[in-house]
Amino acid sequence: MIRARVAGTGSYIPEKVLTNLDLEKFLDTSDEWIVTRTGIRERHIAAVDENTSDLASEAARQALQMAGVGAEEIDLIVVGTVTGEFNFPSTACLVQKNLNARRAFAFDVSAACSGFLFALSNAVNYHRSGAVKRSLVIGAEVMSRTVDWKDRNTCVLFGDGAGALVLVNDESERGILSTHLHTDGSFWELLFQPRPSGWGPGASAEHATQEMGFLKMQGNEVFKVAVKLLSDVALEALAANGLTRDELKLIFPHQANKRILDAIGKRLGLSADKIFVNVDRVANTSSASIPIALDEANRQGLLAPQDLILINAFGGGFTWGSALIRW
Ligand code: COA
Repeated sequence: MIRARVAGTGSYIPEKVLTNLDLEKFLDTSDEWIVTRTGIRERHIAAVDENTSDLASEAARQALQMAGVGAEEIDLIVVGTVTGEFNFPSTACLVQKNLNARRAFAFDVSAACSGFLFALSNAVNYHRSGAVKRSLVIGAEVMSRTVDWKDRNTCVLFGDGAGALVLVNDESERGILSTHLHTDGSFWELLFQPRPSGWGPGASAEHATQEMGFLKMQGNEVFKVAVKLLSDVALEALAANGLTRDELKLIFPHQANKRILDAIGKRLGLSADKIFVNVDRVANTSSASIPIALDEANRQGLLAPQDLILINAFGGGFTWGSALIRW
């Protein structure tokens, strides 16, 4: 059986750091409130001339270098993002251009903070079918351009960045064992971003202001659902493979909030050292969060061949999913 195995990881986080203390200077908030409620201490913000495709391309270059795979060998590029610089062309097409990955076909996947998992699942199926041999799967976001910097309920939570994986075919027991995706559109109003141009259901008269394009969220409702669904979908992946939580080396949940990560750990009966955390330094980078975390752990030497790891994500839509990986 052909599996997609991770051959290289990469990430790119913009240079500019915005700390909670920086936020205190222009927002009615405090470092203490943000750290207590979210665990976030700082986030990175893209420069004015940096776009989502630039972040994605840099993460991809690093992943290719680690994998020892040339851009011209890549058959498929999938980018999970909701902050591409254009409606079209896709961010993936711009990455293809930037890398000169001429033989690849490329497309974006939109699933909010679960975008990377949905992108990964797509790529895995192309590998399994034999249609591609080497792919690039990327999560990249410039969330700082989606939030209202006057709205303390949302802007403190997000940051910018990109992460990438190079996948190659493998016929051993290593690779992505399974992916599990879900959506429930009936929750759309709890977390959404209307188009700035005024399209779509967000374009009611009450939203028709200059703030129209900003991300909107009912944080406490999202929190409750996220904890339950992230835990359920982790158990679903273990059950589907006949594996138990004791066999997991590490889990990489979407980095939205440290309290959500703690609550998942509790529900799954996992000790804190099994849950990878970097939300304190990068905040919620949406689709980019899991591949950035994987790259950090990989470069820190925390992942060895054959380790069993689980990734799980949750986002607007609602969308949620998981994957089990034999590293
Ligand atoms: N600084 C200071 N006070 C703030 C604040 C901030 N940055 N943001 C909100 N508050 C205030 C609120 O205005 C409210 O004040 P009030 O009681 O006077 O009305 C109070 O804090 C409590 O707000 P509440 O929304 O109930 O807080 P909470 O404990 O639910 O924490 C979140 C808010 C957003 C941190 C939390 O709900 C959360 O993390 N939700 C999940 C969000 C998420 O991760 N979304 C992405 C999923 S992919």
